[in-house]
Amino acid sequence: MLRSKLPDLGITIFTRMTQLAQETGAINLSQGFPDFAPPAALLDAAMRHLRDGQNQYAPMTGIASLREQVAHKIARRYGRQLDSQREVTIVPGATEAIFCAIQAVVQPGDEVILLDPSYDSYAPSVHLAGGRCVHVPLQQPDFSIDWQRLQAAFSPRTRLLIINSPHNPSGALISRADLDQLAALLRGHDAWLLSDEVYEHLVYDGQLHASVLAHDALYQRAFVVSSFGKTYHVTGWKTGYVAAPPALTDELRKVHQYVNFCGVTPLQHALADFMAAHPEHLDELPHFYQAKRDLFCQLLQPSKLRCVPAPGTYFQLADYSAIRDDLDDVAMAEWLTREAGVAAIPISVFYREPPKDLRLVRFCFAKQDLTLQQAAERLCAL
Ligand SMILES: Cc1ncc(COP(=O)(O)O)c(C=O)c1O
Repeated sequence: MLRSKLPDLGITIFTRMTQLAQETGAINLSQGFPDFAPPAALLDAAMRHLRDGQNQYAPMTGIASLREQVAHKIARRYGRQLDSQREVTIVPGATEAIFCAIQAVVQPGDEVILLDPSYDSYAPSVHLAGGRCVHVPLQQPDFSIDWQRLQAAFSPRTRLLIINSPHNPSGALISRADLDQLAALLRGHDAWLLSDEVYEHLVYDGQLHASVLAHDALYQRAFVVSSFGKTYHVTGWKTGYVAAPPALTDELRKVHQYVNFCGVTPLQHALADFMAAHPEHLDELPHFYQAKRDLFCQLLQPSKLRCVPAPGTYFQLADYSAIRDDLDDVAMAEWLTREAGVAAIPISVFYREPPKDLRLVRFCFAKQDLTLQQAAERLCAL
């Protein structure tokens, strides 16, 4: 008798919408990945390392040069000097990082607080660790933290809080003042923090990313997760890292070594080379993506969709109530794919209990300008 450990789950909405886009020939603005090439120098480096024989296991913690590049970047950006041997771990993707961090600290019966809408891998990872999710909704319309509800969600069983900034799916940012308030709140609790910062370099309008890495009190109890996939236009490389104090890193590595053992060797070398040779990539990224966001929103101006201001990530939420207020967002995402030929993601799937009047879908604007123009043309025709 097969007893599922995740009985309520099927395939993810990202797979479903991408499949539907393929079946219907729709422009796929659903799943978050670029449709343009990564930097040529990064691809060249990967080819070089493949040919030069970097094809066997990497060290479990990641190759030294990439860990050093990450530590160097963190020092430059966030002012924290990390020991790259003891505090930085390279992993095959942020998803694995999140899974390992949760398995490392959550015991059966522990509670984990999620701020909804929350990325879809968090809750299943908590369930597999035997933990229980406590969902606290972010406030509408700006997806800010409801401090009273968050405070009320803590109990003696709370073992972990997961935050995500820049936030998928809304693009909202957590501020430095929010981090201070979080530190004050956590002070009285025996809970760890998992800070999902995979979109750390995708912050616009001159704003700065408030990283937990720049916050002394929070960093002492945190796993900070990032993804090279988002930063270097290589989501298919599934390479990420975790920065955490030595004691937490030790526990994370105990899990990681039996989940995957190590990340992909030639890709780690390529990323290390590229980070060393092209630090300007990080400075140029906000302008690059801000221009795409602004283009997409400007192109949608004549449409009946209303863009919700988004200071971060490569996602754009749009209110569709002026087109089909009768449809919930799941039905609307499907309708858009079939009728308009543009696939989007419904955001209710990121909630345990979505707000009843939710009329928002998520578009990914990490696309060539031509793709965005063609998608907008179709959406403006509705
Ligand atoms: C908020 C968030 N966290 C984690 C991930 C996973 O990143 P990776 O592809 O490196 O596993 C994603 C990818 O979409 C994401 O949006």
